[in-house]
Amino acid sequence: MSVPALAPFTTVLDLAAGALEPQRKLVERTLGDMQGIYAVPVPDQREREVVYRVSEVPTPLVEGNLLCSTTTIEPGTVDGEFHMTKGHFHAKLDRAEIYLTLAGEGRLVMATEAGEPAIEPMRRGTVNYVPGGWAHRSVNVGAGPLVFFAVFPADAGYDYKTIEEQGFPVLVVDRDGEPEILPNPRYRG
Ligand code: PA5
Ligand code: MN
Repeated sequence: MSVPALAPFTTVLDLAAGALEPQRKLVERTLGDMQGIYAVPVPDQREREVVYRVSEVPTPLVEGNLLCSTTTIEPGTVDGEFHMTKGHFHAKLDRAEIYLTLAGEGRLVMATEAGEPAIEPMRRGTVNYVPGGWAHRSVNVGAGPLVFFAVFPADAGYDYKTIEEQGFPVLVVDRDGEPEILPNPRYRG
């Protein structure tokens, strides 16, 4: 048996705010980073707006390790399309993931490479299972921040390019304050 590469360690998750202590790695995505992802272009004056933050507990990116993170998506829309993550397949396509929602209300939009969509609810206490082979994007459909905790294999990796090029087969839009799922006319799958 080989010697374990890591010593045990502990991180404290603030269950109300989603913050990790100590915070080891923080990624902030602005609406400018999301240019081309929403149905309409992000207006110049909103490009610097931070739309979501991901706090990760890094571990070496090798088979057998786990990564975990919390994501906080601010409420709002871009021309009626709810704030959301970029979305990705895992670079190792068969790697699965679990999301535990801590606060807010969302929709977890998923899609296979063949373009089959799936939409699951996200609210405090939901545990969503994202099977291998499904691209995934989280959408904040509520009035406050959507906060969720994710755990996944450390060697999963991210394939953002496919989603940047193809989009998801469905959009989640604000229809008089309620989320509505629409087919995405720009989907290229
Ligand atoms: O591992 C995940 O799927 C999540 O932690 C996401 O990376 C996070 O929610 C941000 O989304 P994206 O990576 O699509 O920008
Ligand atoms: Mn993922």
